[in-house]
Parts: sequence; C-alpha cells; structure tokens
Amino acid sequence: MITVLRESDAPLSDGEFARLLDNSLRAQGIHAPCAVTLTLTDEASIRDVNRAHRGVDRPTDVLSFPAALLPARPGAPLPPSMWDSGAGAFFLGDIVISCPRALAQAKEYGHPPEREFSYLFVHGVFHLLGYDHQNEEERHLMRKKEEEALGGPDGALAEAAFKAREAAYVPYSGYRVGAALRDRAGRVFTGCNVENVSYGLTNCAERTALFKAVSEGAREFDAIAIAAEGTAPWPCGACRQVLSEFAPGLRVLVAWEGGREETTLEALLPHSFLRFEGDKEHGQ
Ligand code: THU
Repeated sequence: MITVLRESDAPLSDGEFARLLDNSLRAQGIHAPCAVTLTLTDEASIRDVNRAHRGVDRPTDVLSFPAALLPARPGAPLPPSMWDSGAGAFFLGDIVISCPRALAQAKEYGHPPEREFSYLFVHGVFHLLGYDHQNEEERHLMRKKEEEALGGPDGALAEAAFKAREAAYVPYSGYRVGAALRDRAGRVFTGCNVENVSYGLTNCAERTALFKAVSEGAREFDAIAIAAEGTAPWPCGACRQVLSEFAPGLRVLVAWEGGREETTLEALLPHSFLRFEGDKEHGQ
C-alpha cells in the first residue's frame, strides 16, 4: 500500500512503486499489509526537508524517515505500535526522492531513469526496514536485499539455485542440479544433487534443500527454484512427494540457460496422498 505525492515528474507509475514495495517486503519475509508514503519532489524541497529534519542544508537524492526502528533481519515481527488501524496496515514511514537528482544520476550512471527511480525507492524502503550502510558489512547486506527486491524475490531464488548447482556431486551422470527453497519467513535453503556409486542412493537437489531446511527448523515454504542445463528441470516424482509433505501449495520455478517456467506443486502432483486421520495424533 503506497501513497504517492507527485510534486515533480517521475517515470514510474504508482503501481510500479507498489510492486517494488511488495518485492522488498517479500525479500524481508513480511507478509502483513504495509503502508509507505512517497513524495516525489524537486531539489529545493528535498533541501528544505534535509535541513528541517537532519540539519543538513543541501539537496540529496533520497531521504527516509522510518516510523520505528526495526532490526535489519528477515522475518523480524513488526511492532504493534506501527499498526495504522485507519489504513489497515503497518505504517513503515516516509520516503522523499528528488526527481531532478534521480534523472541526473541515471544519466551519469548510463542507465534508464526507471532503473534509478526503482533503485532509490527500494533503497529508501530498506532504510525504513532497519537497514543502513555505516560499514562494509551493513552496506553489503543492504545491497543484497536491494538487488533481491529489484530482480524480484523469484529472480534471487533462481540465482541462489544456479549458485547451489556449482557444488553438485555428479561423478556418474555429470548432470548438475541446484535448488533453492524459501520459507515463509524469507530464509533461503539451498541444495545440490549428491550422487552415489550405488546410483539408487543418489539424493536430488530438491530433497537436499528440503532436508537441510527442515533440519534447521523450517516448516512452511513459499517457493522452490530448481536450476539445471539443457531443458526445464522439473522435479522427479520422489521429490514432488517429499516436498508435498511440507508445502502442498508450493510455487515451483524451474530455470535453465534457455528460460524459466513456473507452476505449483499441486499442478505437478494432483490428488496427492495426504495424512490419514489416525496419523494426525502422532504430531509434528
Ligand atoms: N536429479 C535431481 O537433482 N533432481 C531431480 O528432480 C531429478 C534428477 C539428479 C539426480 C541425479 O544426480 C541426476 O539428476 C541425474 O538423474
């Protein structure tokens, strides 16, 4: 949920800013409704705001005013004090962008104006979410989150799957597979295929990722990305069954050099076997 005050021209629509806000929140594992106010203004006005609120008498590209101090940690709960009952959302704070400055920076860096406005807005959102760049470690963490939000959380998940593929142990097939499984708190668990001389004891990348996640305490999942080469690496039947134990509604993204496709586990494993009544009492 975003309120955009346009005092100066910007190349992104309200809907595009809203999508960037959603991507940022998902990258942070926040699923609750959140609201932000964005003011798109000029050099003189951002200078006034900078002077009035920060005592800095000069224009800048973006300013953020968090409604509360949040820990820069995915999945951290939002404090009830941030809840705005009128809006029906957690109010995160205000962001101000200087449009002339953003346009000048886009030219300077040689990328489209849309890219610069997207970056500045996402940067502002992560400041509202508690991120900062006072030292190298903080800067790196914030940058990673920004990239995730700009490429979309699914883009980051596919990238993590490609990266996990590098560790594949495949002396028999030579076919490398990587998987990245994201839980509802935004944590990502990766895995690769681990083959065995017996062949049959080989573990697929998807199950490696799932077993790592479950053994770290994760139970609810949102999406899995699977990366390989040649053709779309749809998960095998055994992996579909094992994934459905924890995440029947999981989104399944497959990626290879030639493209990407997306479906759900439900579509890949219809009419799956569910726990029967007598089994439920055995607990989690
Ligand atoms: N493999 C996976 O990692 N995931 C699948 O869903 C299908 C197959 C691996 C297992 C084996 O190491 C190789 O691909 C060739 O079957």
